[in-house]
Amino acid sequence: MSNPKHFLDLDRLDAQTLRRILDLGGDLKRARAEGGDDKPLHGKTLAMIFEKPSTRTRVSFEVGMVQLGGHVVILGDQDSQLGRGETVADTARVLSRYVNAIMIRTDDPQKLVELEQHADIPVINGLTDRSHPCQLMADIMTYEEHRGPIAGRTVAWCGDGNNMAVSYIHAAVRFGFALRLACPEALAVPADVLAWAAREGGDVTQGKDADAACADADLIVTDTWVSMGDEDAGKRHNMLQPFQIDARRMALAKDDALFMHCLPAHRGEEVTAEVIDGPRSVIWDEAENRLHAQKGILAWCLS
Ligand code: CP
Ligand code: NVA
Repeated sequence: MSNPKHFLDLDRLDAQTLRRILDLGGDLKRARAEGGDDKPLHGKTLAMIFEKPSTRTRVSFEVGMVQLGGHVVILGDQDSQLGRGETVADTARVLSRYVNAIMIRTDDPQKLVELEQHADIPVINGLTDRSHPCQLMADIMTYEEHRGPIAGRTVAWCGDGNNMAVSYIHAAVRFGFALRLACPEALAVPADVLAWAAREGGDVTQGKDADAACADADLIVTDTWVSMGDEDAGKRHNMLQPFQIDARRMALAKDDALFMHCLPAHRGEEVTAEVIDGPRSVIWDEAENRLHAQKGILAWCLS
């Protein structure tokens, strides 16, 4: 493939392309609900490299490929030569001769760059320590299905300034919503991402007051206090406790505000059971939409 269409991060694609991918995902979702059986990826294979655990990403990509007529090959941490030190570059060159696209979930975002540089086929970011763009596509799809366009709305992010927070910043700029981040100082989002948002004219602010972030928000989002690979869970719990989303905080948001969480969740930690299992939570639709949004990504990458 001469110019592979990679899905690496939301800041790497323009707003129009991201909207086209979401529309594609929405069309495929509707077509399937109406009993359609289109197989645009007939005969195509996706390799999935997992250097970290996964439930949703793994299952939704595999089911998505099968529904589109394709196949997957899964390379776990211990069953490929990557685990024994074969380079990402060599792996990219070899996989490019066998499959049509590669999805990778890994720790170091540099591995994604290396894969992109050496693969002749599309590369999809299935999460790194830096970002989680596939999840954001599902989140935007979910918000818009429930409440209409997200452009002009206000989203509150409370908790760790982690990979999800970075992708929320990218999404705020590309989809045109305001983002209010509330994070402990030691777990703030990377300064270069905030600087990028400012250069792009995004309405993104970061503070330490979760109540202020949630006030009048249209959507409240949080994530685990201890991401995969994080150390010192006890210290993180202490720092993040003041950012928990509970019913009082949820009540500060607009009357029709929604709650989202990428999952897996820890009830009683980043969010109370009352909120995550309550009427404003749309987490199951959000999880389902991983499938539909990623079918849009796959169809776009491989078209
Ligand atoms: N939200 C998400 O990416 O879930 P998994 O870690 O289960 O893939
Ligand atoms: N921030 C979390 C997201 C899991 C989908 C992690 O990286 O573990």
